[in-house]
Amino acid sequence: MLIAPSMLSCDFTKMGEELTKLVSAGADWIHLDVMDGHFVPNLSFGLPVIQALRSTSDAVFDVHLMIEEPETYIDRYIDAGADVLTVHLEACKEDPARVLESIRERGVIAGLSIRPGTPAEEVYPYLDAADMILVMTVEPGYGGQKLIPACVDKIQEIKTYAAEHGKKILVEVDGGINLKTAPAVRLAGADVLVAGSAVFGAEDFAAAIAALRGE
Ligand code: DX5
Ligand code: ZN
Repeated sequence: MLIAPSMLSCDFTKMGEELTKLVSAGADWIHLDVMDGHFVPNLSFGLPVIQALRSTSDAVFDVHLMIEEPETYIDRYIDAGADVLTVHLEACKEDPARVLESIRERGVIAGLSIRPGTPAEEVYPYLDAADMILVMTVEPGYGGQKLIPACVDKIQEIKTYAAEHGKKILVEVDGGINLKTAPAVRLAGADVLVAGSAVFGAEDFAAAIAALRGE
């Protein structure tokens, strides 16, 4: 079980320090949410911020692109420092399999994400091209929302389908993960949990990360 705290809930006046604190608290990956104001109704941060953080840290950067036509930006986000790069199925103009392959060709973990309204089976054609499926359990765009319970079923559906078809795939879950919701998400078979407000809202990051992991 990997825990990927989301920097979307950090204090943006001291991002570098927040990142260092997460790493010392035992974060496995650092989740970085990129929003374009089109695919989602919010803007966050992009290339120069990720590049600046990369110059201060060798942590695993898990970049979640909530942007239209992500294929246009793959190389730039990899150059900026992404180790894991996730695009939304709904946002790709090109064949998602080709987009995922272009990520993988650069030695980066290729992720494919679906919004709450997109059924699990829509990712099945891409289980060979993708290394990871990111199941959104809230409408992407904002931190601090409530997990949509119906989305949790998709985790198990994808894990079961992948096992039955001999596909190796990680499932990451993002949105509304906290100490109350994490057990069901872990039980459904999630490999990576993203948590923004649950980590940054805690007094003790290390304790929050360990608790999310189920320790
Ligand atoms: C939402 C982002 C999430 C967000 C999660 O669109 O993709 O990564 O930071 O925040 P919480 O954990 O507060 O729901
Ligand atoms: Zn995210």
